[in-house]
Amino acid sequence: MTQQQRRILLTAALPYANGSIHLGHMLEYIQTDIWARFQRAQGHECYFAWADDAHGTPIMLSAQRQGISPETLIERMNAEHQADFQDFGLSYDHFSSTHAAANQRRVESIFNRLQCDGHVVEKSISQFYDEAEGMFLPDRFIKGTCPKCKATDQYGDSCEVCGSTYAPTDLIEPRSAVSGSTPVVRDSDHFFVRLSGFEAALKRWVSSGALQDEVANKLQEWFTDGLRDWDITRDAPYFGFRIPGTKDKYFYVWVDAPIGYMGSFEELCEREGLDFDEWWQPDSDTELYHFIGKDIVYFHTLFWPAMLMGAGYRMPTAVYAHGFLTVDGTKMSKSRGTFIMARTYLEHLNPDSLRYYFCAKLGPGLADIDLNLEDFVARVNADLIGKVVNIASRCAGFIHRGSDGQLAAELPDAALYQAALDARPAIAADFEARNYQSAIRRIMALADQANRYIDEHKPWLMAKEEGREAEVQAVCTQGINQFRALITLLAPAIPFTAEKAAAFLGCPVQAWAELDQPLLDRSLNAFQPLMMRVDPAKVEAMVDASRASLQPTEAPAVTLDLEPEIVIDDFTRVDLRVARIIKAQAVPEADKLLQLTLDLGGEQRNVFAGIKSAYEPEQLSGRLTVMVANLKPRKMRFGVSEGMVLAAEGESGLFLLSPDSGAEPGDRVS
Ligand code: 2FM
Ligand code: ZN
Repeated sequence: MTQQQRRILLTAALPYANGSIHLGHMLEYIQTDIWARFQRAQGHECYFAWADDAHGTPIMLSAQRQGISPETLIERMNAEHQADFQDFGLSYDHFSSTHAAANQRRVESIFNRLQCDGHVVEKSISQFYDEAEGMFLPDRFIKGTCPKCKATDQYGDSCEVCGSTYAPTDLIEPRSAVSGSTPVVRDSDHFFVRLSGFEAALKRWVSSGALQDEVANKLQEWFTDGLRDWDITRDAPYFGFRIPGTKDKYFYVWVDAPIGYMGSFEELCEREGLDFDEWWQPDSDTELYHFIGKDIVYFHTLFWPAMLMGAGYRMPTAVYAHGFLTVDGTKMSKSRGTFIMARTYLEHLNPDSLRYYFCAKLGPGLADIDLNLEDFVARVNADLIGKVVNIASRCAGFIHRGSDGQLAAELPDAALYQAALDARPAIAADFEARNYQSAIRRIMALADQANRYIDEHKPWLMAKEEGREAEVQAVCTQGINQFRALITLLAPAIPFTAEKAAAFLGCPVQAWAELDQPLLDRSLNAFQPLMMRVDPAKVEAMVDASRASLQPTEAPAVTLDLEPEIVIDDFTRVDLRVARIIKAQAVPEADKLLQLTLDLGGEQRNVFAGIKSAYEPEQLSGRLTVMVANLKPRKMRFGVSEGMVLAAEGESGLFLLSPDSGAEPGDRVS
């Protein structure tokens, strides 16, 4: 079976350079890596090149907050990211940064070509400007009250409560999330790419089979709505590439991010002596695939192809989007300990276990993938340990003890081995179509066959009988060869285990074609345990560690959630006191409020508190809490509120603050 060698370039989405890698990221990188390893195992020339996404306002602010330059920040993160990737066995050929010089050259040349061909227009736009910080504010850095549902503390582009989208200037009482000040509206000249000029060509590309059906359908909706010009400019201060010919305008991060795929590949070409143009010219016979999350489809199926077309490059062969990762059925949560960083996972568990689990669950579509921690333990132990690794450990023992490590000269059941070889095309087709779950089902069916064979022949009984050494050797030689087939087919998913198996088998485990020749009449190396069972206690420890390290990981979120700095005098003006709740009752006209009667050590206060969702009134009476005692009384529909009680609010709910026992009503809190 000879197949023409394909030349394939793969990319995964570029991680932002200001946050650590978590398992949500790893889902995509593992999906991409399995594909890369699979293609190489078929004998194709396949490169995986990518980079850190190093630019943008959040990265600039994150560096500022840490008191370092953005360059230092992105360098540190690059090293941290790559350590995680290596330890998860990602077999990428090159990992760069979108801040690299090669990328800057490519960005400038693409912009230049777009501009020369009339695809760029200049328009003045009005935007919120933070006078205290001297910067224009991206939508996510403006907060205010939703113009629709009046929910407070909503972002400048959309409301998380009612889901409506709007312009930041529609927000009620907008404020800058950077300085806390009220922003003003200012004008600025921006460059835009005219996407409408690419509409016809984009439509052709979309229906060329390059996209999953769900994605292609979504694009039809966008076409129906009409393609708007794309703003590719950001004003200084900004961490990015300055637009040539301007003093204070920068390319929007989403311009240089996908071009970073090219920038990284160009560096790889230099290192490996490849011809960059051969891969990127419009009539290239190479293949280009982008693996991405479903949240960034718009950028990869409209903006990016438009830039490629406009600048005279090839189009992606396909863009493959995947769903999000959930853990135990819900969004990853810091308080539940299911927001698991890649490093935390690695400190507790084997990378191949997660790689296998993701592989067994990934399909070709956009459905979300759930990491169910109980199922993870059960599945990895049942499949990899119970069905695959056990074949090798059982058979290797008998071959080493009874036959001095020597494999027999023939397979006693050639048909069984042939069945594994014959399954290759269907398994390959599944991997090719990113239907990994189906590939794994087929491989596990082969594993079941192999285990049945061993169970039927019972080498452990034969080994006890004199004169049956040759039979034991034959059965175990068959077992070892079935194992070799299984581990070769699984190697794209579990590379560390495959490498250990290669050491024990004494032959490389990679090219699927090499299975054509069974391993016969040769000796095995000493058997090393290939993989340990997943210990549920370690999973628990990983969850505990994730919960314990509630430190912020996504820098922009911290920036957004922090209130502007105050000085100590600001704080001492707030008179915080211990108070005892003497009475709590619902306010029938208000969904969220409880009416509390508080004893402040001699003085009583009436306070309306928005804690009804978390507490039944009867739970509260008698309990101590902390209140702001000098808050100006506020007239509400149901009465006057004479203070405020303190509560913590997070993903997991609302929690009234209480002092330790022993505190007395009226005690000052500082
Ligand atoms: O969404 C993100 O995390 C981006 N950093 C992905 C960029 S992918 C590519 F276009 F560079
Ligand atoms: Zn709203």
